[in-house]
Amino acid sequence: MKALQCSAFGPVAGLTLAEVPEPVAGEGELVVAVRAAGVNFPDALMVQGKYQVKPALPFTPGLECAGTVVAVGPDVADFRPGDRVVAYPPIGAFAERVRVPARRAFPIPATVDFRSAAAFLLTYGTSWHALVNCGRVAAGETLLVLGAAGGVGLAAVQIGKLFGARVIAAVSSADKRALCMRNGADEVIDYVAEDLKSRVRELTADRGADLIFDPVGGDFTEAALRSCAWRGRLLVVGFAAGAIPRLPANLILLKGCSAIGVLWGEYSAREPEACRTDMTALIARLAAGELKPHVSAVYPLTQAADALQSLLERRATGKVLIEP
Ligand SMILES: NC(=O)c1ccc[n+]([C@@H]2O[C@H](COP(=O)([O-])OP(=O)(O)OC[C@H]3O[C@@H](n4cnc5c(N)ncnc54)[C@H](OP(=O)(O)O)[C@@H]3O)[C@@H](O)[C@H]2O)c1
Repeated sequence: MKALQCSAFGPVAGLTLAEVPEPVAGEGELVVAVRAAGVNFPDALMVQGKYQVKPALPFTPGLECAGTVVAVGPDVADFRPGDRVVAYPPIGAFAERVRVPARRAFPIPATVDFRSAAAFLLTYGTSWHALVNCGRVAAGETLLVLGAAGGVGLAAVQIGKLFGARVIAAVSSADKRALCMRNGADEVIDYVAEDLKSRVRELTADRGADLIFDPVGGDFTEAALRSCAWRGRLLVVGFAAGAIPRLPANLILLKGCSAIGVLWGEYSAREPEACRTDMTALIARLAAGELKPHVSAVYPLTQAADALQSLLERRATGKVLIEP
């Protein structure tokens, strides 16, 4: 079968399409024929050797997919060949078929298509874990989302609205502003052209944001922290801007606020039952149309490197997919 391959850590342009052996379902595993795979920033980091997880070379990237079960391991009772599933294999989704532990797969509701399912698990799982479990978002609070038109960012905008928060989205362009407004943001700040801290203060009558969702890092983190309300919470989600910020401890003290680390992959590994409960709740909301992933581009497997590059160049909005 065909699979994308990373043979050496480096630029995503170095990825190649290779003929590799068919996966075989072992104990507790499924083989899924991939119909669509979601692209995430960590894929691009992993290929460059910049992610906290460094797979053994060569490897096939791809952390999530939707497709059809083609084989089940001997002890798998919950799935059968032909079932439509959405899954987050540890790796390997940018391929025609992938091996997935059955505990990392969920049935796709009848109302949901493969593309929406493939665009859902990682981003919504991360943003839900961040806002609900870590940030305890509450109705009436002000939620500031950085990188709000990106994968996890747009999911955070939608989940924040679902929980009754007032959402301020921060983005870098007019197109991204429009996308956030269409997805329910109450206010949008262009954090490249405008001063983030003063705009948040203006929009909150000087109170600041109760909850800050930060997948961007760099200089934006300190500006966001300076806009945090008394006893607010800063959710440290990622560093898409590249630089890992240092937080001035005096700001945390003066605001009586907290900085909370969010690492969904580790949460799903360490607290699998809680994570499955989250995912089941999330998939029910996807089925009901309460959460709607925005798929902005779909690339064939032959152009998978371009898909990853679009995230690195800050061109992607919502979710980008790869279809084998
Ligand atoms: N903690 C976790 O469990 C977890 C899970 C998934 C992802 N993440 C992390 O969250 C971050 C976002 O992931 P994603 O998949 O949502 O990525 P994405 O779709 O590419 O979104 C990233 C956003 O960051 C902003 N950004 C600012 N500076 C950037 C730069 N120099 N290059 C690229 N983007 C830049 C962009 O918005 P503007 O152009 O509007 O600034 C972009 O929309 C990544 O750091 C990723 O590793 C963390």
